[in-house]
Amino acid sequence: MSDIQTVRVDLADRSYPVFVGRGARHELATHIGSQVRRIAVVTQQDVPAALIPDFSPFETHTFIIGNGETHKTLETVQQLCRSFSDAGITRSDLVIGVGGGLVTDVAGFTAAVYHRGLGVMHVATTLLGMIDAAIGGKTGVNIPEGKNLIGTYWQPQAVACDMDALLTLSTQDLQCGYGEMAKYHFIARQDLSLLPLGQRIARCVEIKGDIVASDERESGQRALLNYGHTLAHALEIATDLTMPHGVAVSVGILYAAHLAQVMGRITSKRVQEHYDIIHGVYNLQTSLPDGLDSSAAINLMRRDKKALSSLTFVLDSSDGLQVVDGIIEQDLERALDLLRRRQG
Ligand SMILES: NC(=O)c1ccc[n+]([C@@H]2O[C@H](COP(=O)([O-])OP(=O)(O)OC[C@H]3O[C@@H](n4cnc5c(N)ncnc54)[C@H](O)[C@@H]3O)[C@@H](O)[C@H]2O)c1
Repeated sequence: MSDIQTVRVDLADRSYPVFVGRGARHELATHIGSQVRRIAVVTQQDVPAALIPDFSPFETHTFIIGNGETHKTLETVQQLCRSFSDAGITRSDLVIGVGGGLVTDVAGFTAAVYHRGLGVMHVATTLLGMIDAAIGGKTGVNIPEGKNLIGTYWQPQAVACDMDALLTLSTQDLQCGYGEMAKYHFIARQDLSLLPLGQRIARCVEIKGDIVASDERESGQRALLNYGHTLAHALEIATDLTMPHGVAVSVGILYAAHLAQVMGRITSKRVQEHYDIIHGVYNLQTSLPDGLDSSAAINLMRRDKKALSSLTFVLDSSDGLQVVDGIIEQDLERALDLLRRRQG
């Protein structure tokens, strides 16, 4: 337990600790408020049961939700609320999400709306959940019109990034986490690869926590967390979601680097540093999906819901990442060409 690091997300009276390390899940019990009688654990079948901490003497109820984005819905939230009600969960009780980003998004949203809001904590069990989804209070579910279109900001009371969870994670889910981890190298302008994994996770939590503390509701800085995501969302749609999110982000980051180069914002040396991180450090995909048509990709990017307006990107510069508006189509095409040429 001594190797557990604590990072604080500083949000005044809603500040909370994030525990990082092997066995970090066991830290949550000591932070449960004295008013809590029952705990509602929300998790999934594929999440090893050993990752659910022992919350005795609290009365603990476990609720399993489905796997995959098709289960990240209001129907799942309604089913959870009904099951909470059957189990006698009240507004003074506590929800604990134990899982990846899907679980923590759904558990957080359900906690925000059940009885008009009760406390929530998370045990993040995927790398992506640890460094991104479980931190910062964004919750949400999908509707057919788009991902995460319904949601709330509802901060957790504590989060555990338990590295025991990484032992059972699939290679693909690890890669997805590394894709998101890569973006923090550019947000912080720091070579995180020198840090051992536990310290690197803690540093990513700290970087995200600082951004959330300065811009909880995404009116400025928080948009930087979308580095690489504009092309990534287009690639996910173009491949009917067969390209995993984190893999799409890695290609999206390289594309953003080429776009910044085309616009004269960064040098080719800086572009190479992007390849060094994405390929050299994380061994992630650097190539566009086969058969991707440039104009189709650009049209999909225009429809990106995360963009502040059409053709808005997060781009690198000598002063770091910035949100850039009004990018012309010719530059988007030239950057796609440069990315393709690097694929050889
Ligand atoms: N709220 C935010 O700020 C935010 C940020 C990024 C992503 N997200 C959301 O996160 C979701 C993606 O999260 P994800 O990548 O963690 O995927 P996920 O939650 O779907 O988990 C992937 C798979 O891994 C399984 N799993 C989880 N932990 C495991 C473990 N320790 N061992 C073995 N299997 C395990 C899950 O059951 C699931 O089948 C998306 O819905 C995305 O919208 C939210």
